[in-house]
Amino acid sequence: MEFSGKSAFVTGGGGGMGLNIAQDLLRGGANVTLFDLKPAPAGLDEGPGKATYVQGDLTDEPRVGKAMAQTFDANGRLDYLVNAAGVLLLGQDKSLVEIDLDLWDRVLVIDLKSMVHTVRHAVPLMRKNGGGAMVHFSSVQCLRGDDQPQDGYQASKAAMVALSKSIAIQFAADYIRSNVIYPGPTMTPMQARWENNPEAQAAVAGRVPLGRIGTSQDMSNACLFLLSEKASFITGTELIVDGGVMAKP
Ligand SMILES: NC(=O)c1ccc[n+]([C@@H]2O[C@H](COP(=O)([O-])OP(=O)(O)OC[C@H]3O[C@@H](n4cnc5c(N)ncnc54)[C@H](O)[C@@H]3O)[C@@H](O)[C@H]2O)c1
Repeated sequence: MEFSGKSAFVTGGGGGMGLNIAQDLLRGGANVTLFDLKPAPAGLDEGPGKATYVQGDLTDEPRVGKAMAQTFDANGRLDYLVNAAGVLLLGQDKSLVEIDLDLWDRVLVIDLKSMVHTVRHAVPLMRKNGGGAMVHFSSVQCLRGDDQPQDGYQASKAAMVALSKSIAIQFAADYIRSNVIYPGPTMTPMQARWENNPEAQAAVAGRVPLGRIGTSQDMSNACLFLLSEKASFITGTELIVDGGVMAKP
């Protein structure tokens, strides 16, 4: 897909999916700002698009606003926002009846309120260039209960979907589209516990009808489609990218 002349802001750009998406947008010719807590990864200067890496915390709303404004100023436009940052605090994020409530607040600030921070700064800038497209990463986790609950994560990911629909309708007249991807199990740094653990990988893959764990490339393919003009009539909806897990009875 062709993204020449476009300008994108990708959160979680130092991680698995966000980095893959940013690299694919750069290959497609877009200029991309990658925003993440982590230091910049290698391989961002291959182009043809120009990468700008911002090391920062999405919970710091003024910092997000500044980076977004700098993205607009450098490129004269902002076309795409990808919200791929997130945390899954396994072992700490648990049932609502036992979770530490400060931990609950922390998860909701990172996984949900960060989306508010990015979107509220992106909308006025996208309006200036006559529209844009957003993709927010939720999770299949929020579509059903779990006997090993992560209720902070679950609630955040569900709320993202509701917000995305609201954004889609509020700003449809501005030609700003907003859609969600629900990833299934995907091999990224978030799931480092599966790395070097063939038994765990086989167990996870065995629960996926297509017989394998997802990759960040699977997610990037879906994301770039939703950002692209090929999805110009798609807004306010969700795409499950999980190898069939949620279709299984
Ligand atoms: N990997 C999976 O199996 C899976 C499944 C379903 C949903 N997801 C969701 O997909 C998205 C991408 O996940 P991933 O697998 O690439 O994870 P990842 O851990 O590889 O990447 C997430 C990135 O977000 C960044 N981040 C976290 N908190 C931040 C903050 N406060 N400010 C700035 N950056 C911050 C991290 O540094 C990290 O680089 C996440 O929202 C995740 O919840 C992942």
